[in-house]
Amino acid sequence: MKISIVGSGHVGLISGVCFAEKGHDVLCVDHDTDKLTKLRKGEVPFYEPGLPELLKKHVASKKVIFSERTEDAVEFGQAIFICVGTPSTERGKADMSYVERVARTVAENLKDYRLVIEKSTVPIKTSERIRRTISRYIKGDIQFDVASNPEFLREGSAIEDTLKPDRVVVGVDSAKGESLLREIYGGFDCPIVVTSVGSAELIKHASNSFLALKITYANWLARLCEVSGADVDEVVHGMGLDHRIGHHFFGAGIGYGGSCFPKDVDALAHISEELGLEAPMIRLISDTNKSQLENFYKKIESELWVLNDKTLAIWGLAFKPNTDDLREAPALRLINLLKQAGAKLRVHDPVAMPNTRKVHPDLYYANDPMDAVNGADALIVCTEWPQYKEADLAKVKAGLRVPLIFDGRNCIDRKRVAELGMTLFGIGKEPVRPEA
Ligand code: UDX
Repeated sequence: MKISIVGSGHVGLISGVCFAEKGHDVLCVDHDTDKLTKLRKGEVPFYEPGLPELLKKHVASKKVIFSERTEDAVEFGQAIFICVGTPSTERGKADMSYVERVARTVAENLKDYRLVIEKSTVPIKTSERIRRTISRYIKGDIQFDVASNPEFLREGSAIEDTLKPDRVVVGVDSAKGESLLREIYGGFDCPIVVTSVGSAELIKHASNSFLALKITYANWLARLCEVSGADVDEVVHGMGLDHRIGHHFFGAGIGYGGSCFPKDVDALAHISEELGLEAPMIRLISDTNKSQLENFYKKIESELWVLNDKTLAIWGLAFKPNTDDLREAPALRLINLLKQAGAKLRVHDPVAMPNTRKVHPDLYYANDPMDAVNGADALIVCTEWPQYKEADLAKVKAGLRVPLIFDGRNCIDRKRVAELGMTLFGIGKEPVRPEA
């Protein structure tokens, strides 16, 4: 089928190349012409494993083509996916101006039946608003449908998540729209859940908020473990073996970040409050998540006593491994706090340093993880990249001025730390200290 995608960011571009991989012909639209120049050469402007190879393959096969004109999207595909950004404004309210503009352009250029599918993360009732906008601006008596198809891909494993999803959710109210969506997803080996448009819209925010709640529960348990002497990994392991609870997204750390969880939790609370339903439980997820990082900072401050003029190494800047995305990254918040306290920072990340340099040009960007620790008064781990988990801790000890580690992701080998006589503070665990 011919499919148009409007908005070639993380969701749009990945969906586009994955649809091409499943045999569809795809037109990807974006208003950023510099980005399009890169994409046409098969270059991806962000880090996502596997995406450059797949993009090059389908640029070469011409199954993915590009345009800067939304009008072309209306002409090209029988199905038009809206994948433009919906940035948060205050307290979770989403800015819908990009989505509205696409709806108007679709309406003004519609000549034949089209299925318009919203894939951007949007507040509930957005499809209804898109439908009304198109009806208002349409010229003539042309049929169209509006559907919702929320996206569940994770950065860093986005290709795998898109090609082999747990499920595809489609919210659609017409038989024709449903049949087109079934054709689009015919090549995907997973259940297709057909719901009302309103339910599909809610499934996205509700799923992400639930996962954020689960992580936050583990983080709060970690705090309880710290004051009670229990070990959070033992606790969540014991709990997770109950299949009703499970182990996924139950790891304690320095808080969730990224482009979705923080935004979607706030948005769910906002939507609910706008509809007259208070959402204290959902608001608390966000507040507790923020305090998790502050608690970690206090641990560092309390152990180092004075941060002014201390040199600290930071491993990991991205909000999680396998991405260069810094949106809502806990490491960035920690860097702000440490800088305000006067600490000098030597930072390292396998892929997120160029993006960090744009926000913090004044840090020392290390050539490799060991370069970061050289002469530092402590090492702080913010992202659990595999190379940090596997690092030679004897070399780390030799490089540090003080053999002290703050492990925000419980990813450093505590047994080895103890053997080497180093000190380590983790999350929700007794510290490792050299024997007296
Ligand atoms: C998330 C959703 O998983 C995805 O379905 C949705 O489409 C977009 O938002 P993403 O933001 O890419 O994906 O990352 P994810 O892997 O979900 O991690 C989010 C945050 O939670 C990261 O900061 C991660 O470090 C943190 N996390 C995750 C934990 O702290 N503990 C865990 O056990 C799991």
